[in-house]
Amino acid sequence: MKVTICIGSSCHLKGSRPIIEQLQDLVNEHNLQDKVELSGAFCMQNCVNGVSVTVDGELFSVKPETVKDFFETQILETVK
Ligand code: FES
Repeated sequence: MKVTICIGSSCHLKGSRPIIEQLQDLVNEHNLQDKVELSGAFCMQNCVNGVSVTVDGELFSVKPETVKDFFETQILETVK
């Protein structure tokens, strides 16, 4: 599964960095390193709803406060 986090300037301001760090920690915690590939991408043309994150091409809006929920529903559920 490929998870891409927008690191464009608008999303960066809204917290893409802490989101990437939290996702990395969650992936490690659940030992999903070979199943989930995290990467960054530049602006996804969805700045208003940032932080933009795609999961296998499907676009989501994630906030630093909602990362855990997002991980559980969109990543953990799908990957197992
Ligand atoms: S900066 Fe992330 S969608 Fe534009």
